[in-house]
Amino acid sequence: MNYFKVDRKNLEEEKRKLEKIYSEFKIKKFSLNMSRGKPSNEQLDLSKEILKNVDDDFVSSGFDVRNYGCLEGLPEARELMSHLMGCSAEDTIVGGGSSLSLMHDVIANFFIKGVNGCPPWSSQKVKFLCPSPGYDRHFQLCEFFGIEMIPIGMNEEGPDIEKIKSLISYDDSIKGIWCVPKYSNPEGIVYSDRVVRELANLKPRAKDFKILWDNAYSVHDLYEDIQIANIFDECVKSGNENLPIAFCSTSKITFASAGIAAIGCLGENFKSMRNYFSRKIVSFDKVNQLRHVKFLKNIENIKLHMKNHAKILRPKFEMILNKFKNEFSENKILKWTNPKGGYFISVYTYGSAKKVEKLCKEAGLVITPAGSSYPYGNDPDDSNIRIAPSYPSLEEIGKAVDLFCLCVKLSAIDKILGS
Ligand SMILES: Cc1ncc(COP(=O)(O)O)c(C=O)c1O
Repeated sequence: MNYFKVDRKNLEEEKRKLEKIYSEFKIKKFSLNMSRGKPSNEQLDLSKEILKNVDDDFVSSGFDVRNYGCLEGLPEARELMSHLMGCSAEDTIVGGGSSLSLMHDVIANFFIKGVNGCPPWSSQKVKFLCPSPGYDRHFQLCEFFGIEMIPIGMNEEGPDIEKIKSLISYDDSIKGIWCVPKYSNPEGIVYSDRVVRELANLKPRAKDFKILWDNAYSVHDLYEDIQIANIFDECVKSGNENLPIAFCSTSKITFASAGIAAIGCLGENFKSMRNYFSRKIVSFDKVNQLRHVKFLKNIENIKLHMKNHAKILRPKFEMILNKFKNEFSENKILKWTNPKGGYFISVYTYGSAKKVEKLCKEAGLVITPAGSSYPYGNDPDDSNIRIAPSYPSLEEIGKAVDLFCLCVKLSAIDKILGS
């Protein structure tokens, strides 16, 4: 039924029918939290071997991993992680188990010390460009540091480059841009080579402007292996080696928050971050780095391992996408992305995201809060919702998506009827 073409009486009738199904759902006491993109237990089990693989072999490249030393990380771990970011091992620091915490470190460092001969960010007005919808924790980091966020629209090639160019050309308080270049969170957009090149060729007015290149999903293909242009190569070519700072982790390759994370940057950025870490820690956890090196081995093997993740994830994505196609192709009250990798499906409701969230919650389904993919939680159209298919079982997803579709329809009908 096309909700925009039927008359009011039929739409009211449809609403009554759906409300009945919704109340039956509520009685069933469904309970599921789908709010975050967590790997499922089945995915975590793919890396179980890690937990036992350094039993009695703990020397690597001449370093006893149980002891202090090797601030930048084990050479083998640096080599391994560099491939996830596209820089060389010498430009890579492997540190801790979370890329988000490394992003926090970069911003903290520049707030305290400044970079590229510029004053500390704490003494300046700081603004970041935030391609939106985007990753909520990037935006929370900005809020934490008091960084003003400027939303930038996204299209199928990546962020709106013309807007970026124009803003950074005159405003030297714009110090950075968040980029999730492959399978962006939540849209699943893969930046085109043109966009990567344009970013690498930016001419920011701020001498301490940074491209924060969060390559969280570089090997997280659901279908074929997609390659994007190399931001480091492009920046070097354009004489902009100070622009990019890349991040990655194995949170969604091995264990979430118990994997290994890395930062990649060149020249002055590298020196500055190395200095920062040298005042923060003697050395990071090399035991876990060695475990990961032994298990993951090399980039080719990581890609094979990720095919096993894809086998688990693909049916979950497809189940949701097929359901959307069946339920919404005709009535047009929901639009959705068709990601080829990453962790999310992004949907656009008929201006009723908050209502959908509320209805889902009342029937036992927790979804990502409406608006959270926008700076300050402010979705101007109250439309976008991020769907995270990875954690629940297929059976749970089946029920959750039925409920979700029901809530999308009910909230849209209410809006159309003006009730
Ligand atoms: C784009 C992006 N960056 C970073 C992270 C978090 O990574 P980590 O676990 O390495 O802190 C996530 C997790 O969902 C993410 O989607």
